[in-house]
Amino acid sequence: MYPSSLFQALLLSSALVPNTFAQNITDPTKRAELSLTALQIWYNAGTGLWNGAGWWNSANAMTVVSNLAKIDSSKTVQDLASRIFSNTIVQAPAKNPQPGVEGTSAKRDDSIIIGSGYNKSIGADDQYITTFPLEWGMNGEYVDVKSLPIYNPKQAAVAASANPSDWLDGFYDDDLWWALGWIGAYDVTKDTKYLNLASGIFKAVTKAWPTNCGNGGIWWSWQKNYANAIANELFLSTAAHLANRVNASDKAYYVDWAQKEINWFLSTGMINERGTINDGLNSNCKNNNMTAWSYNQGVILSGLVELNKAAPNSTYLTIASKIAKAAITELSDSNNVLHDKCGPLCGGDASQFKGIFSRGLQALQEVAPDDVFNKSIQANANSIWNNNRDEGNMLSINWAGPFIAPPNATTHSSAMDALVAAITA
Ligand SMILES: *[C@@H]1O[C@H](CO)[C@@H](O)[C@H](O)[C@H]1NC(C)=O
Ligand SMILES: *[C@@H]1O[C@H](CO)[C@@H](O)[C@H](O)[C@H]1NC(C)=O
Ligand SMILES: *[C@@H]1O[C@H](CO)[C@@H](O)[C@H](O)[C@H]1NC(C)=O
Ligand SMILES: *[C@@H]1O[C@H](CO)[C@@H](O)[C@H](O)[C@H]1NC(C)=O
Ligand SMILES: *[C@@H]1O[C@H](CO)[C@@H](O)[C@H](O)[C@H]1NC(C)=O
Ligand SMILES: *[C@@H]1O[C@H](CO)[C@@H](O)[C@H](O)[C@H]1NC(C)=O
Ligand SMILES: *[C@@H]1O[C@H](CO)[C@@H](O)[C@H](O)[C@H]1NC(C)=O
Repeated sequence: MYPSSLFQALLLSSALVPNTFAQNITDPTKRAELSLTALQIWYNAGTGLWNGAGWWNSANAMTVVSNLAKIDSSKTVQDLASRIFSNTIVQAPAKNPQPGVEGTSAKRDDSIIIGSGYNKSIGADDQYITTFPLEWGMNGEYVDVKSLPIYNPKQAAVAASANPSDWLDGFYDDDLWWALGWIGAYDVTKDTKYLNLASGIFKAVTKAWPTNCGNGGIWWSWQKNYANAIANELFLSTAAHLANRVNASDKAYYVDWAQKEINWFLSTGMINERGTINDGLNSNCKNNNMTAWSYNQGVILSGLVELNKAAPNSTYLTIASKIAKAAITELSDSNNVLHDKCGPLCGGDASQFKGIFSRGLQALQEVAPDDVFNKSIQANANSIWNNNRDEGNMLSINWAGPFIAPPNATTHSSAMDALVAAITA
């Protein structure tokens, strides 16, 4: 037997030097490519989702794949991304945890909906908690996406008639994560069926407008009991992204929604005195001072960047830069590494939040570069690579380290967002 201290030292040394070759990699594209390879281990072509990640989390995993594919033209990345999009659009609808709620809620026949078992709520420490119907996580047999053709005419035909309602589950943030996911797929492939699906989802969500606060904004869910930041930031971002991609005759419609949303958002007081964004509004339509989650500082950034592109107004980038700086100040440790307030363990939903912030910061840095943003992007990417990675290049929740096992598709996809951000910074 080893003396326990020596045994521990051996364990530690193997943990600290996981992979000497990979450890030395500093090229941000190479790092992101290795993390894409690792992400694929969780992707199940049989469901079109990432095993262990939830429904809306899978939309975010798909988005990080397209964000890499937008800037990395290597054939491996392009082929993999195309396979994922063309497979997910066919397979994932069967896994929608609560299809058809939007339609039934118009009739207010709540009994139908309560039976689904899908719900999202807010628990201790303001943590978001998603509960899935029984057996939702049963994924059946694992199918490797690499076994699929890049282009399958049968799949393409199904995709061409993709029904936006298949992607709606009664939580408008979920719906819009998917809309953004399909916009990403369009950006990579230029296949308009993805764009049409995204605009169909967006149009369905416009029915959630307005809330009882200032006659604007959208509700979080069909339950119409919470006006929160995330759903509204996503509404802004989706409208603004669509404005820059649809045919000229449709552009004004999306610009109009995006402007209505940002004007309403700014009037609600959701941005606090520190310049960060709290979770939402209370029943008196005032800022509820709940946690300023990292993702709520990020989605608005790409929304404003896209809106500024569609309908230039320098105010948009000024607002975005202020929020980004306030968020970096509030959420970073002394090494510039991001943390959510309750971190590292803030529950399954929040596991993806920091990456969503990185994504927004990347978009802002591309059009309004600033050393403060760049330092944050570099510090997070380097810390993730050096302190938050295992031998298989899997990435966990604590970007500052130490590595917390086991990593999963949500922690990994989120950290991968930060690695992708470093490519263009
Ligand atoms: C990685 O870096 C270490 C320390 O700087 C060095 O000894 C080693 O040779 C490098 N490995 C490779 C594959 O470059
Ligand atoms: C969802 O969760 C919230 C908060 O716990 C609860 O008020 C609501 O009744 C639940 N809705 C359904 C349909 O189960
Ligand atoms: C734009 O116009 C083309 C040609 O009319 C059409 O095929 C396509 O679906 C339109 N795209 C959108 C997003 O409306
Ligand atoms: C909001 O919350 C923060 C920290 O959680 C606290 O310091 C501050 O006093 C609160 N502000 C209001 C207006 O309640
Ligand atoms: C620019 O945007 C701000 C914020 O929405 C708005 O108050 C202002 O009127 C806009 N300026 C112009 C010239 O449209
Ligand atoms: C993923 O890992 C994080 C960090 O350990 C954990 O908080 C989260 O619950 C995990 N997610 C799932 C779906 O197991
Ligand atoms: C961001 O920082 C990196 C690393 O220091 C540097 O190579 C890059 O030029 C910086 N980008 C900008 C736009 O200044």
